[in-house]
Amino acid sequence: MLSYRHGFHAGNHADVLKHFVLIELLNYLNQKDTAYTYVDTHSGAGLYSLDTGYATKNAEYETGIAPLWDRDDIPTALQAYLDVIKDLNPSGKLRYYPGSPYCADQVMREPDRLRLFELHPSEIKILSENFRKLEAHKAEQGIRPSTRGKRIMINAGDGFDGLKALLPPPSRRALVLIDPPYEVKDDYRRVKVCLEDAAQRFPTGVYAVWYPVLSRIESKQLPERLKRILGNGWLNVTLSISGPSPDGFGLHSSGMFIINPPWTLEATLREVMPYLVRVLGKDAGARYTIESGETEVSKSERPQRTTSQRPVRTSDRNIDARSPRSVATPARQNNRAARPANLNKTRGR
Ligand SMILES: C[S@@+](CC[C@H](N)C(=O)[O-])C[C@H]1O[C@@H](n2cnc3c(N)ncnc32)[C@H](O)[C@@H]1O
Repeated sequence: MLSYRHGFHAGNHADVLKHFVLIELLNYLNQKDTAYTYVDTHSGAGLYSLDTGYATKNAEYETGIAPLWDRDDIPTALQAYLDVIKDLNPSGKLRYYPGSPYCADQVMREPDRLRLFELHPSEIKILSENFRKLEAHKAEQGIRPSTRGKRIMINAGDGFDGLKALLPPPSRRALVLIDPPYEVKDDYRRVKVCLEDAAQRFPTGVYAVWYPVLSRIESKQLPERLKRILGNGWLNVTLSISGPSPDGFGLHSSGMFIINPPWTLEATLREVMPYLVRVLGKDAGARYTIESGETEVSKSERPQRTTSQRPVRTSDRNIDARSPRSVATPARQNNRAARPANLNKTRGR
């Protein structure tokens, strides 16, 4: 079933959590010279218009990126995420919101590789066109030659299946974002199966899964199941902007589950999540949770660790916090190119 269009949800609280964590993970990978591969198994259109088309229907960005837009107390660790969106909106008015492929392209370096999958025939067209214009614009500016064939590969196909052929990546460094629509419950099963396979092929990769926190059983079970995927530990962060609605409709909470998270990520989340709850929270049900731990498989099932792998942490921690604190905000450096003109933002038809 391919009815999902991310444009309806662009810039909502779930995108804020997902893209903030994504940029954090990429910036961590940038700290080492060796190039890496970013795989986006469910890319979407790459870029969205907030003031025309789908996004105007429910204006979900109004409870996501919009409340953060004009604030002058952004935590340091959230600034790199805000910078990507500010650069996309040089007029200062919030009109466009980046999807995960655009965020990645802006943060990643020239030798790094993007491998993007998208199944929807309309979304893949828009994604391809956006990147064609983006690369042409960069080439014109002399920022980087048009290397789309090598640096960025866009695949019109199933991302769960496509991932298999990419692992392990040539440089043995990779981040995989898995962000399906979850409109069909089979997506929950496929996330788990895909990760089990990926972890066998490439156990040291960093894997990030976005998921909706819903009352349905598959949603509740997913993070518990992912805790058993082989790796050097996991981190699970959720953001709820309110308590559940009385009729149970609407997405008020979502999570990012990371396998093999950078050791710095938990501290960063502790800085940023209370702030997001304070700024995006709509009622007393607003909260965040952070859990981290090691894989819950028995010792006998665990593969031998190589010496290059980071040692596992010995304790699981569970934090469920409601009382935020504010933090001050110097800007961060990043290596983004200027925004190209005339990108093809997703609109309603
Ligand atoms: C939540 S959206 C992706 C949003 C994007 N990751 C972002 O953060 O900007 C999910 C996308 O996955 C696509 N999709 C659904 N099933 C897929 C599959 N099996 N393989 C690849 N793409 C799929 C949908 O068409 C949709 O565009």
